[in-house]
Amino acid sequence: MNPVPGSLDPRAWRSFFRSTLWSWRDSPQLRAMDQGAFERYQSESRFVQDALAALSSTPRLDQAFLAQIAPALERLLQRMNQFGDDITAFILFKQAGSLLEDHGLDEAAARALQWAGRCGRDLRYYDEAQMLLDRALACALRVDLHHPHLIEIYSSIGLLCHFTRRWDEAESNYRKSLALLDLWPQAEVLRQCRLPKSRILGNRLTNLLDLHLVRAQQSSPGARGPELMAAKNLLARVRALSADDPIALEFATADDGEILLLEGRVEEAGGLLTAHLDHLALGSPAAPRLIPAVHRLLAMVCAEEGRIREAYDHCREALEESLHRPSVYWEGVVVDTTLDILSRSIRPRMTGTGLDALNADDRQILNNLVLMLERKDWYTGNNHSRAVSRMSRMLGERLMGDSPSQCERPGDSPDYLDLQLLELGGLLHDIGKLRIPWSLLNKSNPLTPIEHRILESHVSEGGAMLRQLGFVSLARLVEEHHEKLDGSGYPLGRKRLSLMGAVVAVTDAYEAMVTPNRRYTAPRSRQSAIKELEDCSGRFYHPRVVQALEDIVAGQPP
Ligand SMILES: [Fe+2]
Ligand SMILES: [Fe+2]
Repeated sequence: MNPVPGSLDPRAWRSFFRSTLWSWRDSPQLRAMDQGAFERYQSESRFVQDALAALSSTPRLDQAFLAQIAPALERLLQRMNQFGDDITAFILFKQAGSLLEDHGLDEAAARALQWAGRCGRDLRYYDEAQMLLDRALACALRVDLHHPHLIEIYSSIGLLCHFTRRWDEAESNYRKSLALLDLWPQAEVLRQCRLPKSRILGNRLTNLLDLHLVRAQQSSPGARGPELMAAKNLLARVRALSADDPIALEFATADDGEILLLEGRVEEAGGLLTAHLDHLALGSPAAPRLIPAVHRLLAMVCAEEGRIREAYDHCREALEESLHRPSVYWEGVVVDTTLDILSRSIRPRMTGTGLDALNADDRQILNNLVLMLERKDWYTGNNHSRAVSRMSRMLGERLMGDSPSQCERPGDSPDYLDLQLLELGGLLHDIGKLRIPWSLLNKSNPLTPIEHRILESHVSEGGAMLRQLGFVSLARLVEEHHEKLDGSGYPLGRKRLSLMGAVVAVTDAYEAMVTPNRRYTAPRSRQSAIKELEDCSGRFYHPRVVQALEDIVAGQPP
């Protein structure tokens, strides 16, 4: 690869961005790259980051220079985003947008900031995404109050409001985007948005349609009428627009199924969606995106009819498929549906800690969620959650052996031990990572402060997921697994931990050191891991728990 030229010659910079783009042209999705391709990509992307940082810190760049390199840079960053490196694309788009904005290149800045906002939104960095999209909007409005690029910006803001459940704002932004689309001729829309006007119109109408479906789902069955009527009208318009677009029509059939489901015509919905799934499996180009969506809807149909085992089967299919899609939003939708169905299944049977309510099917779907997590989180590696679960239980048994009375204490005592809770708490301690973007979990370049905060949020996300299921004691345990005795842990910096929280914290630290990772680092020896825990015993980790772990490991075969 060409080094970044020291001079400010736009031709050299353009060719630098283009040649990198060329080398990534046929790259597979980041998740599918082999080790060599992944490492090459990482080093090249670091090079692009350094180049952009160098430009950003160069005083007195002239507008003409930036205007010449901006398109090549934009295509490069879009490519990064397309193959799953949404984190790096987000940071670089933000940097490029600021650079262009500072130099008064409003039109190019609006595009870059809008892309940054879109990436941020898809990564669930909602506050920052909102600020970036507001800046993009301001830049575009400075150029022209009816600039065609505003079609995209209003739509991005609409989706952000949609994701953050600000329904009225979402609708108003979608409608602004549609009004502008009406204003512009076909050729100009194609030039600015790089898609035919009918496709963009279809997309915007579909966004509005989704909005009505979500609102309908959130209303009580008796109050859904107006939302469903609006959704049906929009669907008819989408169909009319898509007469020669078979893919759009296949999406429309899935929407028909969802409308039937929300109307309470569950059996009809089930029939339609099952037939649609069979049709898609014959090899439709829409299959990769649509099959998981149809499985999710069928899971809802089965749950509605009380066929929980089949509902779980559909959830499993949807979860499996969602792993291959670089969209944390979509993963979240599938995980939420799964948790919702699980909660419906177990709540009526719950007593005490709630764990007795779990039958074999419920436990299996929880295991599926954990397996999905272990495949998604390459850093912590295969088997990590299951290893933490096993070791937490062993530690619990050992600690109970030390002072058997502990097992008889009430559940709110800090020294209380419950083996079932420990085993499941160990298994689910990192479950909140299902809500963290893949590209952040596996980022090998140093994390920024905001990325640290997002990564750390897996603790509260996990707690919230378990509370949603009604497992309050389990949630408390999971919420403590990164706390440390000196208060330097997170999320609360608590100095007093329950004994069970301390068990999972020590086990997690130990297993993270000794479990083989999918990439980057070799596992450490048990002796070296124990040595590190001993060094931090009393400061970070509960001394009795560290001692018990040491005893267990000493008794294990070499
Ligand atoms: Fe964790
Ligand atoms: Fe962990």
